Amino acid sequence: MAGCSSAQIDTLRLAAPVIAPSMLACDFANVEREARRAEQAGAQVLHLDIMDGHFVPNLSFGLPVVKAIRRVSTVPLDVHLMISQPGRYLERFREAGADFLTIHIEEEPDPTALLDKIRSLGAAAGLSLNPPTPVEAVEPYLDSCDQILVMSVMPGFGGQEFDPVALDKLERLKAVASSRLLLSVDGGVNEKTIERCARAGAGMFVVGTAFFGFENYQQRLAELTDLADTFTDA
Ligand code: DX5
Ligand code: ZN
Repeated sequence: MAGCSSAQIDTLRLAAPVIAPSMLACDFANVEREARRAEQAGAQVLHLDIMDGHFVPNLSFGLPVVKAIRRVSTVPLDVHLMISQPGRYLERFREAGADFLTIHIEEEPDPTALLDKIRSLGAAAGLSLNPPTPVEAVEPYLDSCDQILVMSVMPGFGGQEFDPVALDKLERLKAVASSRLLLSVDGGVNEKTIERCARAGAGMFVVGTAFFGFENYQQRLAELTDLADTFTDA
């Protein structure tokens, strides 16, 4: 359904701070249980990391897993495409159930056409930038985006150390971007780093290890949300 996902992004932006559990860190022997438990714990979105072993030095999961998670979850699926030539797969990830599709500026230096295509598919368009990439690289494209995903680790793996370079970028984007843009941060977000991310302007916080590494998902989600809430202006 065209446009539904931008409404979903608006809902999440207004619900800020939103924790987006990153399924890369879940128990893949029990994906259905993990997705359902995260949603029952209060997760309003699930972050799905797609890796092709080419754009990033790791392989994660692809279309069949997205389809399977779509079947067992009712929340928006925030699909992070860490793949080369993402334009080849946009339709298929949308058909598989992706509500948000995020591509990397490092792979698509002029992303306008792909961002427009994502929106034409009815998904919300996201643009991501890695720690070494200056925030100026994405600024010309903000009007074509519904989400900017600021990486605080080099993409490819969960459980890495948070890189504070993301904070300056979040502050800059908060200052220059329209208030309708969802600002997200991804990588090494935990109880020690989430407050700084919120203070810098993030509204959505992708959390893998620091969420799925805990027994009680509901308690963990509440802890992280409370920490972010202190500094989030909706
Ligand atoms: C890294 C992924 C992240 C990662 C986050 O390439 O894009 O979403 O799964 O995991 P943590 O929170 O463990 O850094
Ligand atoms: Zn990610």
